[in-house]
Amino acid sequence: MKVVVIGGTGLIGSKLVGKLKEHGHEAVPAAPNTGVNTLTGEGLAAVLQGAAVVVDVSNSPSFEDDAVMEFFRTSTTNLLKAEADAGVTHHVALSIVGTDRLEESGYFRAKLAQEELIKASGIPYSIVHATQFFEFMKGIADAATEGDTVRVPAAKIQPMYSDDVAAAVGRTAVGTPVNGVVEVAGPEAFQFDEFIRQGLAAENDPRTVVAQPHARYFGSELEETSLLPGPDAHIAETRFTDWLAQQQ
Ligand SMILES: NC(=O)c1ccc[n+]([C@@H]2O[C@H](COP(=O)([O-])OP(=O)(O)OC[C@H]3O[C@@H](n4cnc5c(N)ncnc54)[C@H](OP(=O)(O)O)[C@@H]3O)[C@@H](O)[C@H]2O)c1
Repeated sequence: MKVVVIGGTGLIGSKLVGKLKEHGHEAVPAAPNTGVNTLTGEGLAAVLQGAAVVVDVSNSPSFEDDAVMEFFRTSTTNLLKAEADAGVTHHVALSIVGTDRLEESGYFRAKLAQEELIKASGIPYSIVHATQFFEFMKGIADAATEGDTVRVPAAKIQPMYSDDVAAAVGRTAVGTPVNGVVEVAGPEAFQFDEFIRQGLAAENDPRTVVAQPHARYFGSELEETSLLPGPDAHIAETRFTDWLAQQQ
């Protein structure tokens, strides 16, 4: 089966392309440096020829509110139009657990806009909601740092390994469209500050990490469970401590 992976050169995309190929599929990475640009439409019609499934794991180069909205609106609109023209029968997109609860954040508003375009497209679809990747720990810490202190929300987080995310997206891509959302999450829920503290300690990063009730997560104030999946989520295997040990 031909599966086109938009963002197929990124963190999740490159792992996903590898996994699909291992399972005998024709997985084609599509990104600006392979000549496919969903913002301009360049290369889209050609790469989609003969594709049964399109997986969108692209991301905006800028997380600034207007830029990220422009990225997901324009690229998703162009992509869905090209898929309809090419007769694609399953559109899969990777989004984030809690996207519909975090509308104070420009990034999450843009992801929600992406999801709404997909739902309205008429193309059979599956949206995978994953929790935060282990690899994103440092980015979260950097965004929440003032001086030598990382101020994070007093909330819970159930992060996961990017390999497990790619595996879940791959399973979804080769399955039947669910025309809805499937959730996937890591095996353990942490207090947010504990997750960041453990991650930074493993990198000998001396920053102090504190939990603060009104600290924002990319612009959103969190309830204790805002980032947690529901009871039907698929739970991935890899534990944070094992991943940290693997990084050493
Ligand atoms: N970070 C998290 O914890 C988390 C959690 C759940 C879900 N997600 C979602 O996971 C998705 C993938 O994240 P990631 O970390 O794997 O992303 P990433 O490593 O930043 O990769 C982004 C990919 O998008 C491509 N891209 C950028 N602009 C493009 C364009 N105009 N046309 C086509 N492709 C374009 C990039 O290509 P170039 O390299 O050529 O620019 C790259 O292949 C995102 O949609 C994100 O919302 C993230």
